[in-house]
Amino acid sequence: MRLFALAASLRRDSWNRKLIQVAVDLARRHGAEVDHADFREFDMPLYDADLQAAQGLPPGAQELGRRIAAAQGLLLASPEYNYSIPGPLKNAIDWVSRARPMPLRGRSALLLATSNGQFGGVRGLLQLRLVLEGLGVHVYPDMFPLPQAAQQFDDTGGLRDPERLARLEKLIEGYLPVARALAQAAGDGG
Ligand code: FNR
Repeated sequence: MRLFALAASLRRDSWNRKLIQVAVDLARRHGAEVDHADFREFDMPLYDADLQAAQGLPPGAQELGRRIAAAQGLLLASPEYNYSIPGPLKNAIDWVSRARPMPLRGRSALLLATSNGQFGGVRGLLQLRLVLEGLGVHVYPDMFPLPQAAQQFDDTGGLRDPERLARLEKLIEGYLPVARALAQAAGDGG
């Protein structure tokens, strides 16, 4: 079972980077092989249909599409910008959605978010799931928005609150067999 994991923040001290690392560690502990990417690996310009027509997809978008296509499931942690999907993530999704075959179609995804506010980024996740579902992604029904990010992580990057950690572990334990079953049904047993 191969997963592709990404925190959709370019910020070096990103809370979402910390959160995805916790999720990646849990998924590995439960038997998943995880390709844990850094969003900075996928540099790409703003989507431009003229650029696409002239040059095809930029290398960063091609690489992101390849890495998604090589995985059976996705772990995504995304910040919320202005109640919605951060522009860099939406831009990356827009580019990848122009690749053929379209790498996101038929994949499954577990969505996480954290922000220092009281809603933990859930408003952005609701919009992110809409976009992904529109592209044919099976988005796991439960999500993990983590509020008050600045208080949640210890010095080693672990989650301070054992109850939240247990909830995240349960979520990942629930997601993995669903991702495996969906991948098998699509003929991609991994
Ligand atoms: C934010 N932030 C934010 N937070 C939130 O809970 N709801 C929001 O609507 C917004 N809007 C927003 C817009 C813009 C342009 C920025 C830069 C930030 C705050 C955001 O959650 C905070 O910067 C996080 O630290 C971003 O996530 P990373 O980079 O730490 O993973």
